[in-house]
Amino acid sequence: MVRIKGKRTLSSRMWLSRQLNDPYVKEAKKRNFRCRAVFKLMEIEEKFRLISSARYIVDLGAAPGGWSQLLSERSHPDANIVAVDLLQFDELPRVKAIIGDFEDESIKTQIHDLLGSKADLIVSDMAPATTGNAATDHLRIVNLMYTVIEFSKTILSRHGNLVMKIFHGGEEKKLVECLRQHFSSVHFFKPKASRSESAEIYLIALGFLQ
Ligand SMILES: C[S@@+](CC[C@H](N)C(=O)[O-])C[C@H]1O[C@@H](n2cnc3c(N)ncnc32)[C@H](O)[C@@H]1O
Repeated sequence: MVRIKGKRTLSSRMWLSRQLNDPYVKEAKKRNFRCRAVFKLMEIEEKFRLISSARYIVDLGAAPGGWSQLLSERSHPDANIVAVDLLQFDELPRVKAIIGDFEDESIKTQIHDLLGSKADLIVSDMAPATTGNAATDHLRIVNLMYTVIEFSKTILSRHGNLVMKIFHGGEEKKLVECLRQHFSSVHFFKPKASRSESAEIYLIALGFLQ
């Protein structure tokens, strides 16, 4: 157990201590993954097998690139992966990066152009910067995910799949109902790598109905 002393604030000491003692952080370092988030997508893949058969993939909220790393390693050798984030991140093989706000129409056009085809798989680990107010953070991520659904309708191929992160809250039922109108099935998934105290949960929408 690593203990942190010194002049840091309590919350920064707690964050650092959690990072230093987190087995997923250690494992990510050992295996040269960019962040612990990669293990969440790994668990999603173990259960739903979405990556290995995908040729055209969109990764929304991709920085620092953990999910893109896994997508690049596990997808078809000819796969085309387009990854978007507000923040710059280091290059990866077979990943075309777009730096910008996914909500901008020009960024959506760039995704279409760089992908050059309908998508088999869209993954979104995007989350607006959190405010500390659970209700506000929930509403903000749910609104962003409605934008992801609208975008999916323009780019997802028939039978394509969509993975999205949300934070639990009152609007989640309506969001799931909306997904159910467009997909054959919708599943809730809380990876073990997702901290139990975090309100995050992943929605796995399978089989786009077009
Ligand atoms: C939890 S991180 C993603 C981690 C990533 N899956 C990985 O494995 O490296 C969430 C990301 O969403 C991005 N983000 C939030 N809102 C966005 C938006 N409107 N457009 C693009 N990226 C956004 C943030 O900049 C942040 O890097």
